[in-house]
Parts: sequence; C-alpha cells; structure tokens
Amino acid sequence: MNFEFQKLSLSHAMTASVDALVVLWPGHVLPDAKAVEPVSRLLAQAIAHGDFELKAGAVLSLYSQPGMATRHVVVSCSADNQPGQIRSAMQAAWGAVKASKIKRLGVHVVGDVSAQGLQMALSTLADASYSYTTTLSKPKARTLKNVRISASHDSAELRQAVVHAQALVAGVELAKEWANRPANHATPTHLAQAAKTIASGRNFKCEVLGPKEVAKLGMGAFMAVAQGAAEPLRFIVMRYNGGAASQAPVVLVGKGITFDTGGISIKPAPEMDEMKYDMGGAASVLGVFKALGELKPKINVVGLIPATENMPDGLAVKPGDVVTSMSGQTIEILNTDAEGRLVLCDALTYAERFKPQAVIDIATLTGACVIALGAVRSGLFSSDDTLASQLQQAGEYSGDVCWRMPLDDDYAEGLKSRFADVANVAGRAAGSVTAAKFLQRFTKSFAWAHLDIAGTAWRSGAAKGATGRPVALLLQYLLSNAQAPGVQKNAALPKVADQSVQKVKSKARAVKQS
Ligand code: BES
Ligand code: MN
Ligand code: ZN
Repeated sequence: MNFEFQKLSLSHAMTASVDALVVLWPGHVLPDAKAVEPVSRLLAQAIAHGDFELKAGAVLSLYSQPGMATRHVVVSCSADNQPGQIRSAMQAAWGAVKASKIKRLGVHVVGDVSAQGLQMALSTLADASYSYTTTLSKPKARTLKNVRISASHDSAELRQAVVHAQALVAGVELAKEWANRPANHATPTHLAQAAKTIASGRNFKCEVLGPKEVAKLGMGAFMAVAQGAAEPLRFIVMRYNGGAASQAPVVLVGKGITFDTGGISIKPAPEMDEMKYDMGGAASVLGVFKALGELKPKINVVGLIPATENMPDGLAVKPGDVVTSMSGQTIEILNTDAEGRLVLCDALTYAERFKPQAVIDIATLTGACVIALGAVRSGLFSSDDTLASQLQQAGEYSGDVCWRMPLDDDYAEGLKSRFADVANVAGRAAGSVTAAKFLQRFTKSFAWAHLDIAGTAWRSGAAKGATGRPVALLLQYLLSNAQAPGVQKNAALPKVADQSVQKVKSKARAVKQS
C-alpha cells in the first residue's frame, strides 16, 4: 500500500479526488454549524438533534453531499486522538466504508495528532483491509492501494511517521502472508527462497544452510527435531548491513517450525491446523527485513531462522532420547512437542559469532503463554533490564504490546535431568517461564530477550489469520535503537558467569580439539 501525507484543512481534504474519505474527529472539537464545508454542518445538525454523540466508537456516514468531491465521507470519533482511540476509530470507520470498492482512500485527522497517532491510523487501516488470497482459486484481491492522509498541521516527524508506516505495513503484510500460507505452501525451502528474495537488494546478504552444513556445525538439538520430517531443514542467515562495520549487530532469531504435529508426543487433532503458524517468529523476522530494505536505517541486523517441520516418523526423535546441542550441553528430550526451544537453542549458540549488541528470539513457544497473557500482550523475558525496557517501550509506542515475565533461577528446577545436562520440559506450572529458562542457558555471552508470541501471532476462530505481530514492536525497537546507538554491550565477555554452562562449554571445546 502506498501512503501519502499532506497538510490540509478539512474543507480542502473534502475536495481531494478519492473514492471515500474517513474523517477522524476528536471528542472535544465541536463542529461549526455555520461552516462552509458540509461535514461540519451535518455533524453539528446530527449532534443538535441528539442523533449523534462525539464519543469513542460513534460513526456517521455521509453520502453525496454538495460540496463533497467524494461520494462517501465517514466521520469516526477518535475521542482524545491518542493512538489507542485512533485505532478503534479507524477500525470502526473501515467497517463503514469497506463495502465499496475503494482504490484511493482519504483519511483526515481533525485537531492535534502525534506521529505515533498517524502511524497507528495507517497501520490499523492496513490491518483491517488485509485479506489472504494466495491459495484461493478465485482471489478477491484488496482494491485499496493508495491512502492520502492529511492533518491541519505539518512537521518532519509526521512525514517521517508516514514513511515508517508504509515500510511497517509492507513488513507486517509479508509476515502475515508467510504465516498464513498452509504448511505445504510454506516449507523450510520456501521460507529460504523468500529470505533470499527479501535480501536481494543492496546492504543485504543471505546464506542458507542445509542438513549437511547444520550437521557440521553440531546443531544436534535442531537436527533432532528435523529428523522425523521428509522436508529437509533449512538454517537461514540474513544480514542487513546499513551501519558501520564496527557497529555490533542486533540478532533476531525466529522460530521456524513450518508445521508442528508435536512429533511422537503428538498433538490432539482439534485445531492442529493452526500449527502451520508455528513459524510466526520466522515470519516476523522476514517482515522486519522487508521493512529494513525499504527504510535503509544505519544499523546492522542479523536474522537467523532455524526452519523445519516437527513430524512423527519411524526415524523421528523419541521421548527420552538425549542429544548434544551446538553449545555442547546435552539435552534429554522428554517431550518432542517442546521442539521450539530445541531449534532455538542451537540458533542462539550460532548467534554468538556475531558478537551482537543484543539477541532477541521470537517464537510461538508455549500454550502456557496463551493461558498467561491471552491474545493481547506477547510474553517478554529478558536477562537484561535495559533491553527489556527498550522492547517494552517499543511495544507501547507501536501498540504491539508485550509484558515482562520473570526469570528467577528457581523456575529452572524442573528442567533437571538424570540423563543429560538439562531436560527440554519441566512440569505444567509456569510453562512459558520454564521454556524461557531453558533458552537462557544458551545466552550467557550476550544481552538477550525472548518474545513468546504464541497468543499474539495469530487469531483463532472465525477471523482466523496471522496478525503480523511482533513486526511493529521489533521495527520500532530497531529504529529507536538506531537513533541512539550508545547502548552497546561488551558482547565478548560473558555477563553472568553460570558455572555449569561455562564448564560444559569448555568441555565441548576440549572434545572438539581432541
Ligand atoms: N508450538 C507450540 C506452542 C503453541 C501451542 C503455540 C498452542 C500456540 C498454541 C509448541 O511447540 C508446543 O507444543 N509447546 C508445548 C510445550 C510443552 C510440551 C511443554 C505446549 O505449549 O504445550
Ligand atoms: Mn510443539
Ligand atoms: Zn511448536
């Protein structure tokens, strides 16, 4: 979608040649009954007759009035013009105009609006008007292509927000597209091809590793998940280098389980189709890279995607099997359905080589996170307070919100194993936290955060579909980080010396050398 910003008065906005116009009207601005343009007059009339109240959620449709260049004008009350209210107002407005075949839509915001508010209006509009079509034989494609957004004031910040919104929407829609595709249309190989396409421009690199290379790296945990699948695994390494070579990159690691049957610990049949979304983390990484390509910020970002199906098979990994991860730590796989952490742990170890300023993994990791936080906030786990608060703030700003969860060491008790260094599952209690505690063992040498998006990456039920989250959160984090690149960590030194892990590592090194 293409967004354009203009500084316009309401009466000028009404003379623009668009197919429909949405006017976001704040609650405290009373319309002028004597205005020359018709919208204020009609609105004032409706209010005077008690037919309309300027309250959040209120929508008034006006059609073919003299003085309106566009047939259809929808006034939607945006209460205090804060981003949350703008979001609801835009959703309601889209509900009122969506029946018409709109190619060009005008959006005019009355009163003061922030850059954040403009971005919200546009991303909400894109979200509401999106529809998936790829595997339909007679696709009804979205007609809306151009959005002209206007406000009565102008600033570099507002214009910047519109540029950001356009890139954000491209990224979100790419993430939705890949997450929505059925697993037979989104195999690890397909994801790798998508990554190559996104990373074909200047400043990008993309390398795709297959089973042989992954075996050579010693990614025993990742390989264990993939060994039951006929589709070959892919380990995707994307690089965006917009910053100086000396600038440490942020590494994004996306869980790329293209279908999660649970493996031998097989899942029950109802809703198993939704496990095609188990690569939502990977899709969000692809989406972020798409947006980076459009915005070209001066930062360095690495994207890592361990991609495979999780299938039951004669060769599949079995409960009780012990495997050796790339870090050297051995893992007892007590439940083959806890596969996300297995593919992620090896990708996290791989991330060390980039000497990153931060590593963020994104994963549809646990049903327990859905129970804890529902579909509203993603679970945020981090061993680094600065990184955690940057991500939290990015979430609040973009409306793609998350909530910090604990990582007390006591939660790791249940992961103890008599047959390996660690088990891949603990009990049912605090399942999203014990999953994060498992991952944390592989993150000792960098600032790390984990986003559990099991509840937020897709919607179930009648409106089933990918949400494109948390592309907005991640992009916001990267862009604000790029403006303040003073937060780099000394990545070379392990922060918290966890003796057991350090010992395992030196043992692993000793083995490799011998
Ligand atoms: N992909 C699932 C997590 C999931 C479940 C996401 C439901 C969204 C909705 C993950 O691989 C998984 O199966 N996790 C298990 C872990 C358990 C075996 C410890 C779970 O959450 O049940
Ligand atoms: Mn699983
Ligand atoms: Zn899974």
